[in-house]
Amino acid sequence: MKARVGVLISGRGSNMAALIDAARDPACPYTVALVASDNPAAPGLDIAREAGIPALATPGRRADREAAFDAAFRDAGVGTIALAGYMRLLSDDFVARWRGHIVNIHPSLLPAYRGLDTHARAIAARDAEAGCSVHVVTEELDAGEVLGQARVPVLPGDTPDVLAERVLAAEHSLYPKVLAEFVTR
Ligand code: GRF
Repeated sequence: MKARVGVLISGRGSNMAALIDAARDPACPYTVALVASDNPAAPGLDIAREAGIPALATPGRRADREAAFDAAFRDAGVGTIALAGYMRLLSDDFVARWRGHIVNIHPSLLPAYRGLDTHARAIAARDAEAGCSVHVVTEELDAGEVLGQARVPVLPGDTPDVLAERVLAAEHSLYPKVLAEFVTR
């Protein structure tokens, strides 16, 4: 039986879309069972619904929001939560309840550049390479076990936006691959 994945998004949802696309392959070991967001205006919610996947938004206080996510994921039989551009910090309590079952994609080669503005920081540091990492979510921001990484060059003249686009393309192939490995390990 396929692993049931719940995806948390806050915005565009292009990584979520990559996970959904990959799950169309009959050989994919996971299915995206539910998409949830803190932001009712997240464009990714419509992408999920168009793909026939239930999508819900729960604005409001963090405790209420996380209680709603928790209940919805459990009702949907979700075993793994994939964060895909979810821009809120999860509470320690939520992380503890799903310990070892939440993964995230972060646009840097962790442990470098935890947090925000990763591309600007890589350019400012004159790094030759940038990239993305899929990692297990723990209470500490962007600090859990790294499950997989993809590298791209930083090119002369790169702006943060140009570099972000190059990294994002790498994210879209890395995340489905690593998630498939994670749910079967
Ligand atoms: C991605 O760059 C991801 O690495 C970061 O937030 C961005 C989300 O983009 N965590 P999208 O919503 O998946 O298009």
